[in-house]
Amino acid sequence: MENCQIGAGQGLGTVLRTTLTNNEEVLMSKQNNGALISRSDFLKTAWSAAGIIAALEFGGLSLFYMQPRLAEGEFGSIVSVGPVDDFPAGSVTHIPDGRFYLSRLKDGGFLAIYQRCTHLGCNVPWDQTQEKFTCPCHNTQFTANGELLTPPAPRPLDIFPIFIEDSIIKVDTGNPIVRQNFDPSQVVYSGLINK
Ligand code: FES
Repeated sequence: MENCQIGAGQGLGTVLRTTLTNNEEVLMSKQNNGALISRSDFLKTAWSAAGIIAALEFGGLSLFYMQPRLAEGEFGSIVSVGPVDDFPAGSVTHIPDGRFYLSRLKDGGFLAIYQRCTHLGCNVPWDQTQEKFTCPCHNTQFTANGELLTPPAPRPLDIFPIFIEDSIIKVDTGNPIVRQNFDPSQVVYSGLINK
């Protein structure tokens, strides 16, 4: 390599042009510690970095496409239940695909009540005769709005957000709402959205 000098005071990233004895022209760059990097080394590093970035992006995309897709209507997705008028006031209807009960209270409001017991997770059936939910595992009982009547379950049954669009009831079974008590604000009426 012919004379290759970096003048005092030149800062980080200073690029020099020099000529090798075989007339190969290279660009030289000054690093923090004053060492020089040839253009070929710089290009190797750049290509390596680009390769790593491409691999990471490919891996991320692969993971994204390998995720199981939820079909509409399956548990974990939005479940369309049907028209508001299909559910009389004071009724509790099991929606097996959504794993919840649609409870229409006597004032016309709706709750989507998760069928999973808040004690140890058993499925809780609705007892129409006694008008309450009774867990078969340890006998916890809940009201038609999921409120806790007897232990050992520690809290009411969870609920799901309800959307009523064009008089069709839709339930988001991917987002159970944990509650410590029943509150009237949890009840959804036609035309309103429960958050
Ligand atoms: S799992 Fe329901 S009471 Fe224990």
